Amino acid sequence: MAFLELLSRPAYLAPTMVILGFIVYQLFLKPSRFPKLPIVGAKDSDWFPLYQARWRALRHFERGLREAERKHKNEAVILPLIGSDAIMLPRSETQFVIDQPENVLSLHAQTVENVELEYTVTKPEIIHDSLLNTLITNNLTKQIGTLVPNVLEEIVWGLDKEWGNDNEYREVCVFESTRHVIGYATNRVFVGSSLCRNQEFLDTAMAYAQTVPLTATFLKLFSEPLRPLVAFFATIPIHRITCRMERLMLPEIQRRLAADEARQRDPEDHKHMDPEPNDFLQWTIRQAKEIGDPHLWSPVILTNRILVISFAAMHTTSFAITHVLLDLAASKQEYIDALRSEVESVLAEHGGKWNRRALSQMVKLDSTLRESQRLNMVACIGIGRKVVVKEGVITPSGVKLPYGANVFVPAYTVMHDEELYNDAESFKPFRFAEESREAFPMTSCKYLAFGHGRSACPGRFFAANELKLMLAYILLKYDTELTPGKRPENKWIGQNIIPPMEATIRIRKRAGKA
Ligand code: HEM
Ligand SMILES: *[C@@H]1O[C@H](CO)[C@@H](O)[C@H](O)[C@H]1NC(C)=O
Repeated sequence: MAFLELLSRPAYLAPTMVILGFIVYQLFLKPSRFPKLPIVGAKDSDWFPLYQARWRALRHFERGLREAERKHKNEAVILPLIGSDAIMLPRSETQFVIDQPENVLSLHAQTVENVELEYTVTKPEIIHDSLLNTLITNNLTKQIGTLVPNVLEEIVWGLDKEWGNDNEYREVCVFESTRHVIGYATNRVFVGSSLCRNQEFLDTAMAYAQTVPLTATFLKLFSEPLRPLVAFFATIPIHRITCRMERLMLPEIQRRLAADEARQRDPEDHKHMDPEPNDFLQWTIRQAKEIGDPHLWSPVILTNRILVISFAAMHTTSFAITHVLLDLAASKQEYIDALRSEVESVLAEHGGKWNRRALSQMVKLDSTLRESQRLNMVACIGIGRKVVVKEGVITPSGVKLPYGANVFVPAYTVMHDEELYNDAESFKPFRFAEESREAFPMTSCKYLAFGHGRSACPGRFFAANELKLMLAYILLKYDTELTPGKRPENKWIGQNIIPPMEATIRIRKRAGKA
C-alpha cells in the first residue's frame, strides 16, 4: 500500500513510468539477434512467441527446462532470460564448450556480464586479475587439512549457540540457523578469529551477497548505453555496504599491516609477537607484498576481495547444508544410522581426532552431500560462456553462435536424467559410494553442480570439507526430524534453485553427546 501511495505522487510518477517502460521493452519488445531456433517456453498458438516465452521463463523456469529436455534434447534452443536471451546447447556439446579457448568462448566475459561486475564491485579491477582464484587454488585448497581444527571450533561453537544443548526436541529454522554457523566457520578461514564472530561483519557480508544479484538483475533491464547512468544510482546501496565493511575491517587490516612491517624490519623480533595468522586475509596481504604493489594491500582492495570471496562462498555453502539436512530428515532412518556408524568408526580409527584423512574416508557422508547437490544444485544452467570472436562460432551440430551471445548447457536436466542416474528423481544418499565411487568435488559432463572444466568452482574442495565436517558433527551430536513430515519444496528464482528458507526441523542434543 505504502509503495503504491509513493508511486502515485507526481514526483515519482515519471521515473516509475520510465522504469516500467523499460521492463516492458526488455520483456516483450526487444528484438532477438539469434538464429532461428526453437524457443523454450513458446507455444504454437503464441502471437509473439519470444515475448510470451520471456514472460513464462521468468515465472516457470523449471517447466521450460523440462520441456526443452522433452522436445529438443539434442538441439540448440533459445533460452529467454531477463535482459538478454541465451542459447542453450544440447548436452552432447558440453565437452565442445569446455574445450573452446578463452578467446573464443569466454568464461570471464560471461561472469562479468552475468553479475554486472563492472558495477556491482566497487573496485572492478580486482575481478580482472586472477589473484583471488590463484589463492583459492594454491593456498586455500592446500591448507584444508591444517584448517580443520579452526573450522571445527567454529562449527562446535556455532551449533551450540544456534541449536543449544537441550535433550528435548525443539524447532529451529534450518536455513537461518545453519547460515550463521557456516558464516562463523567460513569467515574464520577468510578473516580469522577476531572478526568471524562479529555479527555486524557477518550481516554486512550477507547484505552484500544479497544486494549484488538484485542490483545485477535490475541493471539488466536497461540497455547498454543507459546502464552506466542507472548504475550510478542503483549501486548506491552496494557502495554503502562496501564502506561499512571497510570500516569494520580497518582495525584488523591496520594491525596486520603493522605487524607485517615489524616482521620485515626485524625478522628476529617477530618471535616475541603473536604468530602470523593463517587465513585468507593474511594470504592476500602476503600475496600483495610478494607482487610489491601497494595498491593491492590498500584496505579498500583487501575489503573488496573479502566481499567477493564471501559472495561466492556463503550462499552456496549455506544452501547446500540446508538442502542436505532437509533431504536426510525426510529420508529413511536407516540412512542416518548408517552415516552415524560410518562417522563413529572412522573417527575411532583416528583416535577421535578430526582431520582431512578421516573426512576423506567417510565415503557415505561424501556421497550424501554429492547426491543432495545433484538434486538441489544452485545454478541450473551451467558452463556459461560468452562468444567473443567477431565472426561467431559454429557448433558441432552446425548452429552459428553470433558474436556477443551467451551460451549455456542444461545442467539441471542432465543431473535429473534417468539415462545417467537411475531413479533420478529420488534421493539415494549412497549412490556415489555404492553404484559408482565419485568424490563430492569431482566434476564431469554429467555432474555440473560446481560447473566443469576451466570454470569449475575453485572453492569446491574447501566447501566439500567444511560441509562434511559440519554434517558429520551434526549426525554425531544431534537428532533431527522434519516438522511437517514431508520435505518442503525448493523455490525457483529465475534460473536458480533456492532452498525453502522458512523450513524448520526439530532437533535435540543426543543423550550423552555433550
Ligand atoms: C557448495 C558450495 C558451492 C557451490 C555449489 C559452488 C558452485 C559454483 C559454481 C556452479 C560456480 C560457477 C562455475 C561455472 O561457471 O561453470 C562457482 C564459481 C566460483 N566459486 Fe563456487 N561454489 C561453492 C562454494 C564456494 C566456496 C566455499 C568458494 C570460496 C572459497 C567458492 C568460490 C568460487 C569462485 C571464486 C568462483 C568463480 C570462479 C571463476 O569465475 O573463475 N565457491 N561456484
Ligand atoms: C601460496 O602457495 C604458493 C604455492 O604453494 C606459494 O608459493 C605462495 O607463497 C603461497 N602464498 C601465500 C600468500 O601463502
